Amino acid sequence: MKNLRVLVVDDEDNMRRVLEIMLSRRGYRTLSAANGRAAFELLSSQSVDLVISDLRMPEMTGIELLRKLREAGNEVPLVMITAQGSIESAVEAMRLGACDYLLRPFDVETLDLAISRVFSVREMIQQKDYLRAQLDHAWEGLVGTSPAMQQVRTQIAQVAPTRASVLLTGETGTGKEVVARAIHRASPRRERLFVPVNCAAIPAEMLESELFGHEKGAFTGALRQHIGKFELADQGTIFLDEITEMPVTLQSKLLRVLQDGRVERLGGEQSIELDVRVIAATNRRPADAIRDARLREDLYFRLNVFAIDLPPLRERREDIPGLVRHFIALHTQAEARGPMPGISAQALDHLRAYAWPGNVRELGNTIERALILSGGQTLDVPHFPLEAARRASAPRDAADTPLDLRLEPAVEALEIRLIREALRQAGGSKARAAQLLQISERSVWYKLKKYGLGSDAAGP
Ligand SMILES: Nc1ncnc2c1ncn2[C@@H]1O[C@H](COP(=O)(O)OP(=O)(O)OP(=O)(O)O)[C@@H](O)[C@H]1O
Ligand SMILES: [Mg+2]
Repeated sequence: MKNLRVLVVDDEDNMRRVLEIMLSRRGYRTLSAANGRAAFELLSSQSVDLVISDLRMPEMTGIELLRKLREAGNEVPLVMITAQGSIESAVEAMRLGACDYLLRPFDVETLDLAISRVFSVREMIQQKDYLRAQLDHAWEGLVGTSPAMQQVRTQIAQVAPTRASVLLTGETGTGKEVVARAIHRASPRRERLFVPVNCAAIPAEMLESELFGHEKGAFTGALRQHIGKFELADQGTIFLDEITEMPVTLQSKLLRVLQDGRVERLGGEQSIELDVRVIAATNRRPADAIRDARLREDLYFRLNVFAIDLPPLRERREDIPGLVRHFIALHTQAEARGPMPGISAQALDHLRAYAWPGNVRELGNTIERALILSGGQTLDVPHFPLEAARRASAPRDAADTPLDLRLEPAVEALEIRLIREALRQAGGSKARAAQLLQISERSVWYKLKKYGLGSDAAGP
């Protein structure tokens, strides 16, 4: 969390100072702006990790700032501060893509909670992929003309106009989230929100309130009202990723919500009618998940109205050349690296021969690394150390150095090494890395946070 840059936007000098002090005491670096316009100008030349903005300001309000940022393609997380009694504006801000809101007056704990929520959400959506996917239109971002992918496209086109729930299955990295977004964009709901929820990344005890929201005082620590993801997704689409990681008790509550089309915030009195399209995904086989009591059978039937199974990349190798071109273009643009390099025929054969356990995600990461290694030249076999990377490096004999007997640092160092290697092999997927490490995905998230390993954890 250290060294993150937070921009505070407020027209009242005192409020700004107080926030800045609160934040810098917690180790954040702060910048400030006195109104939306100044903030917008600052953000066009500098990047920050979080914006905390007052709603009501002269010149340009918080809402206008948020709208202008999103129009300009800037997806920086923004937390809106609103006065009591302007809850509608808070909801409006959330719909426009604010991450959270704070009701004035708030205390330090509330601020902490909001910030930690932002950063866990930020990790969860893996910013980079999310941003790119957002810019794409319905079919862009979905590459592949193999018969298997053509069938997937047909299925998307069939189901998109309907309200039917969709269950996406397929190994890690096969493109389930890409397909979920494509369905949303090809549906009549495209102007409304697509709200992804990674059930594996949110602590089990927080998931219920994340999904359904809560009223102030609903439980210890519920210092204010919170709008759930279902409410946010009203008239849009909610994407329940890693559905088998949702506690089964919560699964039965979810089933009721799906059947009734209504939610109740935790601690709330009235139920709210909603129109939400549900897309769920899992990389487990549903039959296994049901047998292992990870997935309720009744929920499965409710979700499985329409099923799309994404084939692993090794079963559609003819898509590899197109995907390679797609990723070269994507990464060359993203880095503004100049003209697009090509790829040699041998290198392409090399990629076609590989098994791709991390599927399309692993291919994307491999291309990104190869582009760095090639320095803008044509990609060739040496830029793809696939087989070499599979061999675990043999530990060196260190008999001549005295052995450091402290257990804890040694265990931590080993954990970090194994986690990095697992993430690398998994092409960055925490779910798959968890399988390789034979620990729960939640533990992976926990350890990444503990060791401060960011999204670059899979790096060399
Ligand atoms: N058909 C495709 N065309 C272009 N890019 C793709 C395609 N399929 C997947 N990708 C890219 O591969 C990466 C992984 O895809 P995605 O996140 O959708 O996988 P997933 O099936 O949800 O994996 P997991 O089960 O690990 O969450 C993303 O960066 C995505 O953009
Ligand atoms: Mg996914």
